[in-house]
Amino acid sequence: MSELSEKLEQIRREIEGKIASYDSSKALYEFRKSMLDNREGRISLLMRTLKDLPKEERPAAGKTINDLKEWALARFEETDRKLHHLEIALREAAERVDVTEPAVSVRTGHLHPITLVTNELIDVFQGMGFTVYEGREIENDYYNFTALNTPKDHPARDMQDTFYVSGDFLLRTQTSAGQIHVMENSRPPIKILSPGKVFRSDDDATHSPMFSQMEGLVVDKGISLCDLQGMLDTFSEKIFGEGVKTRLRPSYFPFTEPSVEVDVSCFACGGKGCKLCKGTGWIEVLGAGIVNRHVLENCGIDPDVYSGLAFGMGIERIAMLKYGINNIKALFESDVRFAGQFRD
Ligand code: PHE
Repeated sequence: MSELSEKLEQIRREIEGKIASYDSSKALYEFRKSMLDNREGRISLLMRTLKDLPKEERPAAGKTINDLKEWALARFEETDRKLHHLEIALREAAERVDVTEPAVSVRTGHLHPITLVTNELIDVFQGMGFTVYEGREIENDYYNFTALNTPKDHPARDMQDTFYVSGDFLLRTQTSAGQIHVMENSRPPIKILSPGKVFRSDDDATHSPMFSQMEGLVVDKGISLCDLQGMLDTFSEKIFGEGVKTRLRPSYFPFTEPSVEVDVSCFACGGKGCKLCKGTGWIEVLGAGIVNRHVLENCGIDPDVYSGLAFGMGIERIAMLKYGINNIKALFESDVRFAGQFRD
């Protein structure tokens, strides 16, 4: 009996001594099994030695073993609960999300200022009933010049230094070439807008060998300069701001007659005169005019029945004015620090 008590005491001390050192419920479970497993646990094995004791000692001995078993069960349960709580706390700490932490910013792509301005222009003119016609970048001499009333040897050809591709083919110097395709392929009423790249052998702070233009063409009965001015007034207010006015100045283009240069009142100083408008109060933004009757004739449209207006603007120029960019090259250098400033 005392031998049994000693063994029980030893087990109790061993459990008590070790139990606090466990830091995972899994490891504790192994320890618990070594003591309490029904077949191999040390306490269970002691139970099985009861039959070797004299009959009268068995009930008391059985009780002491049972007491120890219950005590051990309670200790293991309690410790297991503590470890479990600890494990949950640790996991929660590790998985904790601080919703107040500033978000990691994700860099997204965005549109180039030229695309932004192009879209804006399309939007404005679509509101006036224009549809978009996409021209071609390689044209032949006929579409870029001759059909536009600019025959060979015409001095106006010198206005635009041309890149020739081969023979009769060239990189279009103006989106006006698209006018001819449209008028050849459709009958009035015509109301198209044609954005696209054009090419000229020209290179300085305000000129680039490749740039973008936006062409507009309206052909119908009774079209006059008044229609042009009305459309351009809407355009200038929408693009440069409320109260911006337009003014038409006489000019010359072979494919329009009369031809005008269109100025907008300076949106920086309101027309008083400043650095942007070079003290004049006006800024030149586009060329326009009434479609020359020869051009209509070249496309099989009767100029005695129909008349048209056309305008063409440089998109880079509009973007530079709108955003205060002083070198056209910034628009083509792909510097993300520059391009990133034009998120809409
Ligand atoms: N094509 C002319 C240019 O590039 C602009 C223009 C277009 C003028 C339409 C009049 C009418 O300078």
